[in-house]
Amino acid sequence: MGSVPLLLVGLLALASYLFALHSNSDGIEMVMEEDELFGLFEVMGGLLEDPGWAQAHPQPCTDTPWPGVQCEISHDPPIFHVTKIHIGPDVLSPPCKSSAHLSESLLKLPFLKTLSIINCFVTSPVTLPTTLFGTFSSLEHLALQSNPTLYGEIPQSLGEVASLRVLKLVTEQLTGTNPQTNCLIGRMPQDFGKLKRLVLLDLSHNFINGPIPENLSDLEVLEYLLIDDNPIKTGVPLFVGHLKKLTLVSFSGCGLDGPIPNSLTLLKNLTALALDNNSLNGSIPSNLGSLPNLDQLNLSHNKLSGMLQLPEDFIERLGKRLDVKGNTGLCISNQIYHKNISLYLELPACLNSTIEPRNGNSLADETPEDNEGLKPHIGRVSSISASRLGREVFSFSLVVKFVFCFLEFF
Ligand SMILES: *[C@@H]1O[C@H](CO)[C@@H](O)[C@H](O)[C@H]1NC(C)=O
Ligand SMILES: *[C@@H]1O[C@H](CO)[C@@H](O)[C@H](O)[C@H]1NC(C)=O
Ligand SMILES: *[C@@H]1O[C@H](CO)[C@@H](O)[C@H](O)[C@H]1NC(C)=O
Ligand SMILES: *[C@@H]1O[C@H](CO)[C@@H](O)[C@H](O)[C@H]1NC(C)=O
Ligand SMILES: *[C@@H]1O[C@H](CO)[C@@H](O)[C@H](O)[C@H]1NC(C)=O
Ligand SMILES: *[C@@H]1O[C@H](CO)[C@@H](O)[C@H](O)[C@H]1NC(C)=O
Ligand SMILES: *[C@@H]1O[C@H](CO)[C@@H](O)[C@H](O)[C@H]1NC(C)=O
Repeated sequence: MGSVPLLLVGLLALASYLFALHSNSDGIEMVMEEDELFGLFEVMGGLLEDPGWAQAHPQPCTDTPWPGVQCEISHDPPIFHVTKIHIGPDVLSPPCKSSAHLSESLLKLPFLKTLSIINCFVTSPVTLPTTLFGTFSSLEHLALQSNPTLYGEIPQSLGEVASLRVLKLVTEQLTGTNPQTNCLIGRMPQDFGKLKRLVLLDLSHNFINGPIPENLSDLEVLEYLLIDDNPIKTGVPLFVGHLKKLTLVSFSGCGLDGPIPNSLTLLKNLTALALDNNSLNGSIPSNLGSLPNLDQLNLSHNKLSGMLQLPEDFIERLGKRLDVKGNTGLCISNQIYHKNISLYLELPACLNSTIEPRNGNSLADETPEDNEGLKPHIGRVSSISASRLGREVFSFSLVVKFVFCFLEFF
């Protein structure tokens, strides 16, 4: 029986790795592997200002916790593993250091499920090393938000992290801070199609070029796709129409051109669609109005044209959450024009219509109380997506943003 000596050797090896040995209230011995603990110390040392973090938190999973670190116990053997590291405005002490970076020691944390670093890389340039990601990783949630000195390409190896469910490499406005943008460039990795468990992909406010790889059509469980404010400059990607679980799709300010594909009308679970501030042309597919769950539709500031063919009950249901402003070629039928639902559409009656069009302003003057009644919608509209929050403040042109990204810290 060769397995007994092997087991003994294994136990001895394990024993030599044991660290911070102590008992919990049930008297069960809890331990953490030394390699993992030191890995955590190195990762925190790479991020935080306080060089004494390790001394202050020698047992971060038990006796000396820190709010940004979470651990879980594996049952066999019963030892602690670091499963979450979070740095952000809600965990302010100690702050990130000016040379904050992602340590390769992350590789010593094989049980890490959540890594979220918000507004931490603000002084020294930081890239995402290819070596940090791969099939070995068990990351489910990666959020690197509002880190203005995070730059460079998104590594292909991120596509190997099959466990990934949430990927946010995005800028969000944080209360009490100046808005700061991530500066990721280049194409989206081809291998992203392998992220079969991905539910949320948010790459808003970066400098990511199109085309977006069509193999994203393999992301079968994707529900949230937010690409706002990147120079994609292609047509609306066709794969979007294949992702049947999508509930929120947002490509605002992506330089998209061509038509709104009919395939979007297959997304029965869609609740919000934002294609505003692009150069889309052609007509608005009338079937968008038969999507049962669609509750927010922003097609403003494009080159859409023709008569608005959306069903009247749809237009009525959405109210101000339907935004088609800023499409000079778009008009509505006289029939709708003369109902008060047309007020906020801000569209003229189609020229070939028979009844003389009225001026939108005079109609508004006649019914001021109706405008009042519509006001509560504005609040709901503004909650369309968190990534939209920073929009108004972020009116950099792409060129200005590019310069901001690459000249600021070089
Ligand atoms: C994605 O498609 C490209 C070609 O468009 C191909 O080279 C690549 O191997 C594909 N990747 C995956 C993961 O299927
Ligand atoms: C749409 O949403 C419902 C309820 O959330 C869900 O049961 C259904 O599977 C979804 N449809 C698709 C195609 O995913
Ligand atoms: C639509 O997008 C534009 C920016 O392109 C924004 O100003 C407007 O508030 C949005 N409309 C709605 C209803 O969210
Ligand atoms: C939309 O724009 C493209 C050029 O970007 C042009 O070729 C096409 O004819 C336009 N379609 C319509 C319906 O205007
Ligand atoms: C009126 O003109 C619009 C384009 O301006 C067109 O879409 C619509 O079909 C026309 N309607 C009729 C009845 O000709
Ligand atoms: C105008 O809209 C208000 C609600 O916004 C509604 O109560 C009223 O009946 C509408 N008037 C007409 C003539 O449709
Ligand atoms: C529209 O998109 C451009 C980038 O294409 C951006 O610079 C601008 O701020 C956006 N406008 C609005 C109102 O979001």
